[in-house]
Amino acid sequence: MRKVLVATEKPFAKVAVDGISGVFNENGYEMVLLENYKDPNDLIKAAADAEAMIVRSDLVTKEVIAAADKLRIVVRAGAGYDNIDLVSATDRNIAVMNTPGQNSNAVAELAIGMMVYMARNQFNGTSGTELRGKRLGVHACGNVGRNVARIALGLEMEVYGFDPFVERSAMEYAGMKCVASAEELFGICQYISLNIPANEQTIKSIDFKLLERMPRNATLVNTARKEVVDEDSLMKMFAERPDFKYISDIAPDCIDEISEKYPGRYFFTPKKMGAQTSEANINAGIAAARQIVGFFENDDRTYQVNI
Ligand code: 3PG
Repeated sequence: MRKVLVATEKPFAKVAVDGISGVFNENGYEMVLLENYKDPNDLIKAAADAEAMIVRSDLVTKEVIAAADKLRIVVRAGAGYDNIDLVSATDRNIAVMNTPGQNSNAVAELAIGMMVYMARNQFNGTSGTELRGKRLGVHACGNVGRNVARIALGLEMEVYGFDPFVERSAMEYAGMKCVASAEELFGICQYISLNIPANEQTIKSIDFKLLERMPRNATLVNTARKEVVDEDSLMKMFAERPDFKYISDIAPDCIDEISEKYPGRYFFTPKKMGAQTSEANINAGIAAARQIVGFFENDDRTYQVNI
């Protein structure tokens, strides 16, 4: 019987775990669940005899891969796979996949929800502002970006998009006005939603030169990765632009300084929770389980990211 490890330091909703185990039961696979673990060694031990793994933001390091002799596939139930050591996996001929699009509505709803919360002064009773009529810049127009645009258009925001990897026609179809550069996007939009992956090109790419272009009453919304924002630039922007606010699903490393100096101008979720809905857990978790079965039974490599 093939053994699949579902390792989620941040657990899926129970209904999603039931769905995932249903897929494995139907196909005669054994599922082992490792939830809420705190020590990376627990993952290393649990991975030892697994042929497949499902993870979320769990760190699949070279140590985990080295310890997992039988491992043939890792599926990241979600979009970003910057938590997986792709070089080590590829060296061992282990397929790595993600489940694109499955949790993107949840992430987009969080981005818009946090925007409303900040526009209304964190519901502190004072007079805030509305999103209607404001300009939103979608920085990267993949699954999350397009969902952010869809909801923002429903709120009658004016939505602009920049993404060198997405066809102009697809962005226009999603209701966005295309711009030619990140500089242009930041220059015209009071709200910017970051939806870029974390990689060599994007880490620290959101710097002061971009941020300072934002018009008055600028709000930066980050549901991507904290690493894409250059934190020295962030602190400079907070200091030089009293109108600037930062909302993020992942607290920056400089959280203590921000909270001490700039109360009311930031909001950070206590734990990354963009994809923390039952629906997103069900969608991404069950998609991951089916991808594993498809890989073993039919050599289906759709969504493999290390080809
Ligand atoms: C993703 O990359 O899919 C999102 O950031 C969600 O990550 P999570 O599964 O760790 O919540």
